Amino acid sequence: MAHLTTIILAAGEGTRMRSAKPKVLHAIGGLPMLGFAMRAAQMAGAERLGVVIGPGHDDVRRLVENENNAADVYVQEERRGTAHAVLMARPSLQDAEGVVIVLFGDTPFVTAETIARLARAVEDGAAVAVAGMRPPSPAGYGRLVTRDGKLVAIVEDKDASAEEKRITLCNGGLMAFDARHILPLLDAIGDDNAQGEFYLTDAVALANRRGLAVTAVEIGFAEVFGVNDRAQLAEAEARFQEARRKAAMLAGVTLVAPETVFFSHDTELAADVTVEPHVVFAPGVRAASGALIRAFSHLEGCALAEGAVVGPYARLRPGAEVGRKAKIGNFCEVKAAAIGEGAKVNHLSYIGDASIGAGANIGAGTITCNYDGFSKYRTEIGAGAFIGSNSSLVAPLAVGDGAYVGSGSVVTKDVPADALAVARGRQVEKPGWADAFRRRQGKK
Ligand code: UD1
Ligand code: CA
Repeated sequence: MAHLTTIILAAGEGTRMRSAKPKVLHAIGGLPMLGFAMRAAQMAGAERLGVVIGPGHDDVRRLVENENNAADVYVQEERRGTAHAVLMARPSLQDAEGVVIVLFGDTPFVTAETIARLARAVEDGAAVAVAGMRPPSPAGYGRLVTRDGKLVAIVEDKDASAEEKRITLCNGGLMAFDARHILPLLDAIGDDNAQGEFYLTDAVALANRRGLAVTAVEIGFAEVFGVNDRAQLAEAEARFQEARRKAAMLAGVTLVAPETVFFSHDTELAADVTVEPHVVFAPGVRAASGALIRAFSHLEGCALAEGAVVGPYARLRPGAEVGRKAKIGNFCEVKAAAIGEGAKVNHLSYIGDASIGAGANIGAGTITCNYDGFSKYRTEIGAGAFIGSNSSLVAPLAVGDGAYVGSGSVVTKDVPADALAVARGRQVEKPGWADAFRRRQGKK
């Protein structure tokens, strides 16, 4: 394939989102929209990636740098239209060779294959190639005006005549250019239109006037679904979830009630994982084959090994690693903790900044007290240890292999292997006390 440069436009204020946050930072499946466009460009093999961002959008700049620190960031100080925005990336365009693709940061579902299809249209001789699509309702989109089957112009909705508004073939947003023609074309675009903006879409009519070849490549609407407001953001999320659920099931994951399970962009579930109803996968979750995630659990930044069982009603936070056949039961929270093979944390516990050895049994209501208001401390529990119910383990603390901790203990000192630690008030019995008490109250 020819050299590929991609420019992603992300400078819009996103007025219709009514948000203090730039539109492209609103997330789908836990990934900001701009991240989707950047990944598609990278997967399509873009050698250079330029992103045009709005003034003062430091969070957008950080996202771009996190996703790809080789990307060139350009700031569009004044929002004067999509052609104006592309021209901000002039340094990337001046010496570009091959194909330049322009993508929008608010169109998250464009695939690398579609980018490649557009690039091929340019390699086959087009100076400009446009992604056409047929949305259920064309209102708001630019219309592709054709004559004798040839694309002659794109007319923005706000500039379209009544007749042009009836055209159903619309501009999906992404466009490909022969690198030799992009700057001469864009530099010639004016702003004489309904919005007083420099429209990238005017490149089509201009190219035609100059006798350059222009073509439209039709792609499915789902791929160029654009997000301009929060209702469309929710629709994009729903489309994303539906696609992810289906992909997971086809890859061998059992979803008992798929419509109630929510994925992130990076959720990795192996074949033969089972997910019960009402489970949320926040970013960063991996589960190996045979893992069972029971109902009403919330998982984030964690890994489940083969045959691990989590929930119902479990919360796994970043850094939780559940070993082979280990169990995290109801109303347990685990954070930054490795749970050894076959270990059990079955009821009402908080395990944070800890490691739990293979086969250990953590009784109901066990708490690792990991925080003193300033620093976090670790709790290490050995293999085969048995922690009695309702124990507080005050970190830093080590409980040796095979040790026992008596129920209700507040353990502040290390427990040697195979020892018993009991740290609670001694039981006192007063025979007949209750009976005497009732007599004093006149109840007998
Ligand atoms: C645009 C297209 C329209 C197409 C539609 C598809 C133009 C003129 N119109 O309209 O033909 O049908 O997308 O979704 O291209 N941006 C900047 N700087 C600007 C203006 C926009 O960076 O000065 C960015 C926005 O952040 C956004 C993208 O460009 O990511 C598209 O801008 P937007 O205003 O959403 O264009 P649409 O009205 O949707
Ligand atoms: Ca848009």
